[in-house]
Parts: sequence; structure tokens; C-alpha cells
Amino acid sequence: MTQDELKQAVAREAIKYVVDDAWIGVGSGTTASFFIDELAKMKHRIKGAVSSSEKSTARLKGYGIEVEELNNVDNVPVYVDGADEVTKWGAMIKGGGGALTREKIVAAVARKFVCIVDASKLVPVLGKFPLPVEVIPMARSYVARELVRLGGQPAWRMGFTTDNGNLILDVSGLAIEDPGKLETTINGIAGVVTVGLFAHRGADVTLVGTDRGVETLTPIA
Ligand code: 5RP
Repeated sequence: MTQDELKQAVAREAIKYVVDDAWIGVGSGTTASFFIDELAKMKHRIKGAVSSSEKSTARLKGYGIEVEELNNVDNVPVYVDGADEVTKWGAMIKGGGGALTREKIVAAVARKFVCIVDASKLVPVLGKFPLPVEVIPMARSYVARELVRLGGQPAWRMGFTTDNGNLILDVSGLAIEDPGKLETTINGIAGVVTVGLFAHRGADVTLVGTDRGVETLTPIA
């Protein structure tokens, strides 16, 4: 199967987690886009969606799915999103598409995070994929120096501005043995808006698309 077919397969599987007559949280990226395509087929069963990026909002609205502002929604039973890397414990690197801040917010509100990935994203240790960090523009150099002190090599994602008007540093060279600890440390740097480590609020369920079919991983509590 191609990578796109694997993404489509997990997107289809994720529909089983969508709760009828409720708001669904929708992520960003190519895998999440496949999910939106599947969601469109059963849109009459949901209230609508809360979205984690302008791109996903446009795709949802293109299908006639109502997109509600998160501030007006107090109950999001499920959030479905992709990841750049995920461990079997549900810790993730996200933000390859630059939507990490809104993704983290919607994930925080949701009761269940369903991560959908093709098998190439499942890793034993996070960090091969450069870790995105969203920063306030005036703090870019300072945050970059602090990330170097942590052992990383930050690169400014040139020509890219997030939906929130901020910048992204992509940090390579980190072998992230303790994702929760590093998430806390990077969150503590002044000027950091969001680090693309999702460890404190990781995935509750990870659907992995493989040639043998979709595998379901649920970290043991
Ligand atoms: C966007 C994200 C995406 O979930 C992540 O980049 C995976 O994207 P794709 O499904 O296109 O591989 O975090 O900010």
C-alpha cells in the first residue's frame, strides 16, 4: 500500500470513534485531511467540528461542516489528528505543518485523543523528526540559544508564519528519552508559545496504518 492509502485507512478507522450529536475536534495535516474527507460522509450525525488550523477549517467548511469557535464549546469528546512521530506510549512530536499551538489547545479540551498515522511515524524514541517550537518573533534568537544549551540544533523555518502570527524553530539533534521532562523544560523558556512535544497530553489511542491492516495501540495507564 502507498503511504496515502495507509493514511486513508486510518482516517476511515478513526470515524468509528466519532461521537454522534457532538462536536468533533479535527487536527491538521495530510492525514487529518483524509479524516475530514471521511467525516464529510457522515456529517449529518455530528453537531459540527472545532478545528486546529485555518487550512482544516477551510476544508471542513468546503464540505458544509459547521466549524464552531472553541470558546463556544465546552464538550469535545474526541479529537482526531496526525503526528510527525509517535511512540507506542502515545507521546508525539507534532507541528510539522506548523499548527501545533491550536492542536495542543484542542487536544487539551478533548476527552479522547485519537492519533492517526501510517507506520513510518511509529518510533521507539522521539527526535529524529526535528522538533517544532513556536516562538514569539522577538524571542527567536534567545529561544534558539536556549535550545542549543539543551543540546539541540534549531533552524528557523524561514518564510513561515503560524496562524497565530508567530515563528517556528525546528530543532534537530535531540534524542528525546524523557518527552514529558523536555516538554516541561522547553515550555519554561520565555518566548516559547508551544513546543511540539505532546507527552503530558499524549494520544489515548493510536491507529497505525500498516500493510497488515490498521493496528490499534492504547498505552497502559
Ligand atoms: C501539523 C501536525 C500534523 O499532524 C503532522 O505534521 C502530521 O502531518 P501529516 O499527516 O501531513 O504527516 O502536527 O501541525
